[in-house]
Amino acid sequence: MYDVLIIGSGAAGLTLALSLPETCEIAILSKSIVTEGSTFYAQGGISAVLDQYDTLESHSQDTLNAGAGLCKKEIVDFTVSQGKAAIEWLQKAYVPFTYTEKNNLHLTQEGGHSHRRVAHADDATGQAIENSLVSQIQSRPNIHLFEHHIAIDLITRRKLRLKENRCVGAYVFDKKQQKVHTFKANFTIIATGGASKVYLYTSNPDGSSGDGIAMAWRAGCRVGNMEFMQFHPTCLYHPHAKSSLITEAVRGEGGILRLPDGTRFMPKFDPRAELAPRDIVARAIDHEMKRLGIDCVYLDISHKPKTFIKKHFPNIYKKCLSFGYDMAKEAIPVVPAAHYTCGGVMVDQQGQTDIEHLYCIGEAAFTGLHGANRMASNSLLECIVFGHATSQSIIKKLAKHYTDTQIPAWDDSRVTDSDEQVVINHNWDEIRRFMWDYVGIVRTTKRLQRAQRRIQLLLQEIDDYYCNFYISADLIELRNLSIVAQLIIESALSRPESRGLHYTLDYPNADPNLALMDTILDPITL
Ligand code: FAD
Ligand code: SIN
Repeated sequence: MYDVLIIGSGAAGLTLALSLPETCEIAILSKSIVTEGSTFYAQGGISAVLDQYDTLESHSQDTLNAGAGLCKKEIVDFTVSQGKAAIEWLQKAYVPFTYTEKNNLHLTQEGGHSHRRVAHADDATGQAIENSLVSQIQSRPNIHLFEHHIAIDLITRRKLRLKENRCVGAYVFDKKQQKVHTFKANFTIIATGGASKVYLYTSNPDGSSGDGIAMAWRAGCRVGNMEFMQFHPTCLYHPHAKSSLITEAVRGEGGILRLPDGTRFMPKFDPRAELAPRDIVARAIDHEMKRLGIDCVYLDISHKPKTFIKKHFPNIYKKCLSFGYDMAKEAIPVVPAAHYTCGGVMVDQQGQTDIEHLYCIGEAAFTGLHGANRMASNSLLECIVFGHATSQSIIKKLAKHYTDTQIPAWDDSRVTDSDEQVVINHNWDEIRRFMWDYVGIVRTTKRLQRAQRRIQLLLQEIDDYYCNFYISADLIELRNLSIVAQLIIESALSRPESRGLHYTLDYPNADPNLALMDTILDPITL
């Protein structure tokens, strides 16, 4: 029995663990090694108002502009107001940020920001944050880390047919022992990251299968704004690069997007050109690729001195070189790829979901910060700010006494070994391909309906499989991926307009009547 069970060991989960009292017994689950998650791969940095000429109002306004009318202003103002404190907290955790010669934080700029306000650790900010936070938790005896443990489902009193519904823990698959354990806890937190793996091409690591969103949905939580899946404009285009991200900071430091013949094209789409918000840049690239029938466009920063490029982007420079591209001499081939889940589990300002004692933080949560399009580098900020805010809510409730809940052990007496592993592999591929083709950067109602028909079929098939065969990590993720796909498709179909990241040829303009409408799906009604 733990006081707190945190499912996920990225920036959000680790921040929360470190913000709770050391008297609190905490279990943290990670489905792979502790550092594996999107946090580790974050490049550009974390946004905060740190420059004397910048203002909180300006950071808020830029976030609201990028969010295309759907951000919740009070959440934006709250998050932005906590930016400086978040950076100071990370500095105290020894995150090795990049400093100027005068020992100020070096700030870079990214799309949508009207000011330099992105603190970073070279071009590997996430790795620096993740490693520092992991070092901190390793010195806390009250924090127990379970690597290679994948949560299958949340346990609620309602599922156990008991009164006073609340979350009391989770069933967890131990990948090494191939066994299911019961993790009982007074408070459970979903910090499982995003769902971009639902698309064929993604900048995300393999684990971004939307597990937490699907688990919360199955437990009865509402989910919001899932149609707003963000595509990062610039991932390296190479058969072996697995959609490696090329940070937006390359454009922030002067990188130019070009067609194969060298023509610059962004100014014709937006006056902010390469520094327009991501939805605009990704759509412009998609448009040019389809118009010309080309496989990629090119990102060119070769006009900057080699010393500048190697100093600012040491890791990206090396990575490109390993694929045969010298950024200092030539433009590199890039394409958009699925990058960030703007929607998620509905929560309040302290991460509380619809179910008592169940919280959600980080990319899995829908706080209202990002609206219809997240602005660059606001995600790590959200992880830190909401990690802290959620700890405050839990601390208030920790001392109370709660009736004990008897939880039955996982029952697999009625399942057998699968003789059809091919179903899992096939369905994984099928979902990710039709999501890319029909529910991607540019949508139509017809394509969405096609996807809707396919996902209905697959949901049924995957459910049958789940009920009949022993559990495996691939099956757990596939089951979650299929639910997340359904949520994205249903949300997209229920927004008859184009706004932010949701762009449909059937309704190419924003509808002012929908300007304040979040897409809220409720498991009771869907
Ligand atoms: P993650 O860091 O993704 O961690 C998820 C954790 O949950 C992992 O530990 C995983 O093992 C665990 N988990 C998942 N499912 C289960 C399960 N079923 N059971 C047990 N454990 C589970 N944002 C910025 O603000 N600035 C940037 O510069 C930036 N660059 C990015 C670059 C890349 C390539 C990517 C992919 C993202 C980037 N982002 C950036 C977005 C940002 O990194 C993420 O949104 C953020 O790190 C998410 O943190 P998180 O803690 O919510 O989840
Ligand atoms: C990047 O470095 O371009 C990614 C930043 C982000 O996703 O916020």
